[in-house]
Amino acid sequence: MSIRNRLLLLPETESTNSYLLDRPELLKTPGLVVRSVRQTAGRGRRGKVWEGGEGNLYCSLVLDPSQYAIPQPSFTLLAGLALYRALENKGMRGHWIKWPNDILWQEKKLAGILTETKQTLYGQRLVLGLGVNLVGGPSQFSAEIATQSVTLEQAGMQVTAIQMLQAFLLAFGEILDAVKVSGLTPFLADWERCCQSLGRQIWHETSQGWAGAKIIGLASDGALKVVDVQGQVQVISGGEVRFAKPNP
Ligand code: BTN
Repeated sequence: MSIRNRLLLLPETESTNSYLLDRPELLKTPGLVVRSVRQTAGRGRRGKVWEGGEGNLYCSLVLDPSQYAIPQPSFTLLAGLALYRALENKGMRGHWIKWPNDILWQEKKLAGILTETKQTLYGQRLVLGLGVNLVGGPSQFSAEIATQSVTLEQAGMQVTAIQMLQAFLLAFGEILDAVKVSGLTPFLADWERCCQSLGRQIWHETSQGWAGAKIIGLASDGALKVVDVQGQVQVISGGEVRFAKPNP
């Protein structure tokens, strides 16, 4: 396994990603994992908050991207695939990956990944933060998030934070090892299978507002490939993607 992990367990912190990013000395060691029992200011993608109570998984992993000859955005996709596989190994069924790396079950969000970068004295580092909703129900979330979130417990599964973390690290380590040998392409193909979204209609955010399109797959760097309403192939590298309702 290519990630030789060292684990730092905290009772509480604002955000495990911020904990690492604020302490450059901890970024020296790729493979270091910080897990916190609670987060008081968890962060999601695009400036959103990441909520949840005790018993869920909140952790961040340090990676040195220069050890892998793959484009940076693809780390996030591979982490999503690792999480998909880890959940499958724990017995979960019916989950899928929403680009780039949310895990959904019954159209609700079960887990998310926030990847951030920092230039350090030791080179560039990726801090890959993982949040998995494991226990409880809607009451741990604010009203807005509660309707869009789900936990493993609600899906009928009992998995502890440490079990989930171990399963994820195992799956991610295997993927990163194999990427060094076989490259990214086989994993992009597996990601496309696990996203179960090929052919689905989406709305995506552009500088001119929301635009409709249909998902056709992944580009070689992990961006989302779609066909727009004029029939042109477009590549989406960021911004929000929403599925299929008549209007966003
Ligand atoms: C998203 O889907 O918006 C990404 C959510 C990522 C949440 C995790 S929880 C552990 C780590 N620390 C944070 O502040 N965020 C990530």
